[in-house]
Amino acid sequence: MTGPARPHQHCPPFDELDALERLRIRATSPTHPRLPLPAQVVEASRDTGLEIVDPEGVPIALYGPDQVDAQGAHGTPEWLGNPSPRPYERHYLSPAQVRASTSEATLTVVVDRRLTRKDISEVRRGSGGRDVLLLVLAGPTMSPYTRGVTLIRQSLEVARGIPGSKVVAVPLDPRPGRTAQSLVDEVVTAYAPGPVAWLGPHPTSITSSETFDRTGGSGGLVLFFTGLSGSGKSTIARAVREAILEEDGRPVSILDGDVVRRHLSAGLSFSPEDRETNIRRIGWVAAEIAYHGGVAICSPIAPYESTRQAVRSMAADRGGDFVLVHVSTPVSECARRDRKGLYAKAAAGEIKDFTGVSAPYEAPTNADLDLDTSQLSVEQARDRVLDLLRERGHLTEADEPEWMI
Ligand code: ADX
Repeated sequence: MTGPARPHQHCPPFDELDALERLRIRATSPTHPRLPLPAQVVEASRDTGLEIVDPEGVPIALYGPDQVDAQGAHGTPEWLGNPSPRPYERHYLSPAQVRASTSEATLTVVVDRRLTRKDISEVRRGSGGRDVLLLVLAGPTMSPYTRGVTLIRQSLEVARGIPGSKVVAVPLDPRPGRTAQSLVDEVVTAYAPGPVAWLGPHPTSITSSETFDRTGGSGGLVLFFTGLSGSGKSTIARAVREAILEEDGRPVSILDGDVVRRHLSAGLSFSPEDRETNIRRIGWVAAEIAYHGGVAICSPIAPYESTRQAVRSMAADRGGDFVLVHVSTPVSECARRDRKGLYAKAAAGEIKDFTGVSAPYEAPTNADLDLDTSQLSVEQARDRVLDLLRERGHLTEADEPEWMI
């Protein structure tokens, strides 16, 4: 017995989720542009309809089959429930809720970037005793970046100094290139009960740091070693960790291939698919560490270029730097050392698909550093990595004690 086919599920990118949320709270008109969909999603939902889920898998909207075509999804969907709460969720109000609790005399200040001290004093002065609505354009609101969170927190601090003020957050990313000014204007108009004041361009250029807008701005790092089994990755990784801890004191986590396979990736095989899964898991954890300003040193074989590339993007998406080190010790040297006896087993056919023997290793062409440990001592290899990290601003030079100067 088969019931009607369940609707196809799709989790759109963060900016589209915000667009849907604006539609739901009536901050934009329902005639607004369609929800763009990848061709395979259109295909899969043609008969079943389309269920939109948030990144946590919570169903939020349902489009019928007749609302989906090659141009995307259109019209107002059936709303299924509230998306997963965001930080400061209580400050996300609909235009109707805002209008119900403000008067036409309220001054709306559009917060579309971080406030400077000058902005804050101008807002205080400009309010002239009126109630102030700090309207924070906080998108992308479902993303883990802290852009919106930072703006809301700052606005709340400002609001504490202005009696009768309130802070309302809006799921809209106002940055040029992400949202057309006409849409920003439309949304602001929907909210503002009276006169509107804009902050104007930021006095200094902060566009690059605003891309991620991490709270601490602490410059996290994913240091990724790739190379054959027995090439020296783990040994160099350990030496680098020791040096960072001694020189700098920053927290360092090592995600070593063999160790990860005993815990995070227990049960995975060495098939191409499982190797890919293994590396993506390492990348995910490493990017999270970098996001919090830490250093993640990864030392798996990671034989595929495309998977290493995926880890690079994960780190970048979380605002971390990515440094790729190829430990290029030749297979003959790895097999000669054979510390774990695995090359002998692979040669005897006891281990199948052994990297460098019976499974491929795609040497990187874009490594930041190449270290062949048949030519370098552990200390030399370590120092080359440390020099590179210093160059990229990841190690603070230890201050010389005053008596040395
Ligand atoms: S990866 O390909 O998925 O990146 P990973 O670094 O996690 O590999 O694990 C490699 C380690 O697993 C090697 O150092 C070795 O000790 C062990 N190993 C066991 N079987 C294999 C195999 N078939 N190929 C490579 N390494 C293997």
